[in-house]
Amino acid sequence: MGEGIILGIESSCDETAAAIVAGGREILSSVIHSQIDIHRLFGGVVPEVASRKHIQNIVPVLEQALVEANVSYRDIDAVAVTNRPGLIGALLVGLSFAKAFAYGLNKPLIGVNHLRGHIYANFLTYPDIEFPAVCLVVSGGHTSLLYMRSLMHTELIGQTEDDAAGEAFDKVARFMGLGYPGGPRLQKAAEQGRPGCCHLPRVYLDRPHFDFSFSGLKTATMNQWNKMQRAGEGSVNDLAAEFQAAVAEILVEKTMRAAAHYDVPSVLMAGGVAANAALRERLERRCGEDGRRSYYPPLSLCTDNAAMIAGLAWHDFAAGRFDGLELNAKAFLS
Ligand code: KG4
Ligand code: ZN
Repeated sequence: MGEGIILGIESSCDETAAAIVAGGREILSSVIHSQIDIHRLFGGVVPEVASRKHIQNIVPVLEQALVEANVSYRDIDAVAVTNRPGLIGALLVGLSFAKAFAYGLNKPLIGVNHLRGHIYANFLTYPDIEFPAVCLVVSGGHTSLLYMRSLMHTELIGQTEDDAAGEAFDKVARFMGLGYPGGPRLQKAAEQGRPGCCHLPRVYLDRPHFDFSFSGLKTATMNQWNKMQRAGEGSVNDLAAEFQAAVAEILVEKTMRAAAHYDVPSVLMAGGVAANAALRERLERRCGEDGRRSYYPPLSLCTDNAAMIAGLAWHDFAAGRFDGLELNAKAFLS
């Protein structure tokens, strides 16, 4: 079988990515083509534009991944592709490409769940994470808490009832004129400001369950922004700092509560929002206080990439779990 050199393809949103990963661990190359500059013109991701850009970029991105990894088509043992969840048209570009590649070269095909890929980014970096673990998945489309018995045995213990955390970052940033992409822009503004200019609600922290809700916090922030505009006073940076502090407190305190409930040694965070510096700091500090180990991927593996897809798929490859060419794309998980 060899060590298992997997080609990963990712096109679920606005990044076209290809990566070559050996043995589920060693990243030989990871190429990401971001479409940010085009979508910025529209203030957010336009699905149809994303699909078209994926079609234009997928071949050059793949070729660059092969060159950087110094491997040829023949060296690849399997083709892994994100097939769920995501923008359906965008997913279909990567999936169709992966199928053609697998069929043409007679290689096995492996469909990968994008969110599991995000979680796996932690294991690419830290192979010795001790189970059981609790994992907070925070991206543009999802906010969930998982209890992990092992890499493959996970249980959903909580999720957002409305907006995802990343969506709230993006919408609030857009409303306050901070631009796109909202998360990093808002973080930058927050770093120039101080929280506490007003008090935004820490939604659901008073409830015992592990679910989240961000639409009320989003509206409260927008109302506060309107109030500041009318009064002609207050600082956008301070409001950004208070919003970021509220999100970080909600996410981390819920996660720590789940970690205590299940008494796990390891607490993980994954997805694009896990790139947020305030969130990373708070998780690390709270885990230190509670005697648990915190993990989050390096910035290059937090947002969408194909290394996490190729890495996770190696475990299916090693177990002989492959998909047929009838594999379809799914916008949602269920
Ligand atoms: O995982 P991801 O790259 O794509 C999805 O699967 O959704 O996550 C993108 C989300 C966006 O909402 C983006 O604003 C957010 O992650 N994000 C951040 C930061 N970097 C990216 N949110 C807060 N702070 C950041 N530094
Ligand atoms: Zn993602």
